[in-house]
Amino acid sequence: MGTPYRCSMADQLTKLAYDTLQQGKALFGITHKEVSSRLMQLLAPAGSPRFEPVPDQLLAELRQAMQTLQERDWQEAEQGIYPASLLFDAPWLDWASRYPLVWLDMPAIWNRRSQRRVRDLPRDVDQRAYPDYYLQNFHHQTDGYLSDHSAALYDLQVEILFNGTADPMRRRVLAPLLRGLKAFPEHAPAQIRVLDVATGTGRTLRQLRGALPQAQLVGLDLSTAYLRQANRWLSELPGELPQLVQGNGEAMPFADASVQGITCVFLLHELPGEARQNVINECYRLLEPGGVLVLADSIQLADSPQFSTVMDNFRRGFHEPYYRDYIGDDIEARLRQAGFEAISAETHFMTRVWAARKRALAA
Ligand SMILES: C[S@@+](CC[C@H](N)C(=O)[O-])C[C@H]1O[C@@H](n2cnc3c(N)ncnc32)[C@H](O)[C@@H]1O
Repeated sequence: MGTPYRCSMADQLTKLAYDTLQQGKALFGITHKEVSSRLMQLLAPAGSPRFEPVPDQLLAELRQAMQTLQERDWQEAEQGIYPASLLFDAPWLDWASRYPLVWLDMPAIWNRRSQRRVRDLPRDVDQRAYPDYYLQNFHHQTDGYLSDHSAALYDLQVEILFNGTADPMRRRVLAPLLRGLKAFPEHAPAQIRVLDVATGTGRTLRQLRGALPQAQLVGLDLSTAYLRQANRWLSELPGELPQLVQGNGEAMPFADASVQGITCVFLLHELPGEARQNVINECYRLLEPGGVLVLADSIQLADSPQFSTVMDNFRRGFHEPYYRDYIGDDIEARLRQAGFEAISAETHFMTRVWAARKRALAA
């Protein structure tokens, strides 16, 4: 990291385009949230969350952290960790056509929030097929994770929530993953198998495909609706189609030591502690000795105490039943408990990224 690189005119223009895109997305996210929360106060005051005011100094620190993330995102593309085209990758037309649905969905979210209905799920869902902790409206979102309607809006909602930084944060798993995969020089690129746990609509798989064009990619999620959406978007990509599997991250339907790398993005904060440990243990089982696990999730109180108000506001604004427990959890201890070693962690804006290795077999 931080290696000096030569910046051609074309690079400078690409960088300018990237910075402008990110500024545009940030402005869009901030404006959307401002207008929608005013509307909510006006039309559904009972459901309006009581946010802690964010002081100017904290806002300045947030802006700085966001800028640092963006710089890192650009530099790692420059270093060839992933193609610069990923920086601009999004289904823009698709999102534009779905944006009105985000507004149309809002009254239902406000109602659910004010009536504290957190288990308002589609009637046809077979509840026995899912763990109890999953059967909730995370973020108060309509149908929880259990409908095509929810899957159609999810990426756009996350993009707005994070002011356009969701993919830059997801991409932070790529550098540690590629470093970890160097432990397998004897594997041809097409023999490397990487699993993305809780892949949702496949945004992380898209980033993985950019960085590992030949690898075998597998995405697992509990939601068939989200996997259907992932399939739609991933099938547009050139190269081998990632394999998508419905299943629980706590007991995955794969053989021991069958993958060399695992990523898991934005799942841990939505799990109770015991399930968090089960997922980490499962990742350990699935990795070939020497393999690498990269986790990315919300920052926590221990690494980012200065942003505790932001974490608290997130919990107040969205139904996130396990978030308070998560932000105080010791993920490194959980990784050690599972057997992982060489554990490292970094913070990127609102995301903490952990990398860990499964002990290699003695030579
Ligand atoms: C916040 S979303 C993150 C999705 C994706 N990784 C991303 O970056 O957008 C959480 C995802 O975890 C999935 N999920 C929750 N609990 C799970 C479990 N026990 N096993 C597998 N997937 C799970 C949900 O269906 C949802 O797609």
